[in-house]
Amino acid sequence: MTCDQSDILLTEQEAQRLFSILGYMTNFRSPKKQKYTLDDCREFAPFTLAINRLKKEKGAIILAHYYSNPEITFGIADFRGDSYALSKQAADARENIIVFCGVSFMAETAKIISPQKKVYLPALKAGCSLADAVSEQDVINLKARYPKAQVICYINSTAAVKAQSDICVTSSNVYDIVAASPAEQIIFIPDIYMADNIKIELDRRGIKKEIIPFGGTCCVHDKYTPKLVEETRQKYPQAKIICHPECPSDVCLLCDFVGSTSAMIKYVRQTPAVEFAILSEDGIVNTMQYENTEKVFYNYSRTCGSMKRNTLANTLAVLQNPAPEAEIIVEAQVAQNAKRAIDNMFKEVEKK
Ligand code: 13P
Ligand code: SF4
Repeated sequence: MTCDQSDILLTEQEAQRLFSILGYMTNFRSPKKQKYTLDDCREFAPFTLAINRLKKEKGAIILAHYYSNPEITFGIADFRGDSYALSKQAADARENIIVFCGVSFMAETAKIISPQKKVYLPALKAGCSLADAVSEQDVINLKARYPKAQVICYINSTAAVKAQSDICVTSSNVYDIVAASPAEQIIFIPDIYMADNIKIELDRRGIKKEIIPFGGTCCVHDKYTPKLVEETRQKYPQAKIICHPECPSDVCLLCDFVGSTSAMIKYVRQTPAVEFAILSEDGIVNTMQYENTEKVFYNYSRTCGSMKRNTLANTLAVLQNPAPEAEIIVEAQVAQNAKRAIDNMFKEVEKK
């Protein structure tokens, strides 16, 4: 066999490998939202082969949030997870190079936790409407106004905002950390819908605390409405409707299950229900489709454009010859203060 022939065979084998996974998933980029085809996978294969070879040669690890494109999460990532799991993974990784297929605040968190490692974000400066909603000065002003309050920041925030906060949380631990807080007054940033959901959960647990919300909303989850949930119930009475706590509280109250990205994935895996409407991001539906091939997912998910800016092409570029803007840099003092807030979260979670 010639070199060219063996390359063609390898590429076809890789396309078949990808298709054996992606074939179960909706290609949300396709005009009619059809399933991934073998031809889609043939386009991905030369990239995934090159990336998987190069990451070994360079001693890099690829971490990908569940919301990344599936050719990334399932084709090249060494680990896919929600924001909590990915930060733990960044802390524990033995590799000196982390390629983070996520958004800026996630890659920044990895750098804060592992300052000695090089961290790259393929989707240059990929933003998040929540992280953009609060500035460092906003937190300084809030602290001056409420000097006795504890500052709890959702991980979807910049390093400078984390540095001004007492403790960080993710959607997988927010309720327990807020409930366990010794403070009676809590400034919660930057998700005002999550703050509403916290108040409801504290009431449900019979815990009295004043929550002072400040910030904005997630531009993906804030679009869901109670009307949509009611219409979905009528249309698909057997379907379980599930959502992320970044959704408005009047939506969450109508859903069958509310949870972090990983909690929703676990719920779908474990419940005997077969029909679902997922009020969250497309990427988690892809993971659910792969894990639950016999279950039906109606088309309710939305796209986080920032997450989808990570592509095989820009991930390969970062491994081959990274643009200076692809490397995540966090000023040393900011990183040190932000790390305290993240470590406080790890300590709280480990107490359980
Ligand atoms: P998770 O913490 O569930 O991964 O959520 C992160 C996020 O950005 C959700 O929109
Ligand atoms: Fe930010 Fe929303 Fe995208 Fe999550 S889905 S990264 S909160 S914009």
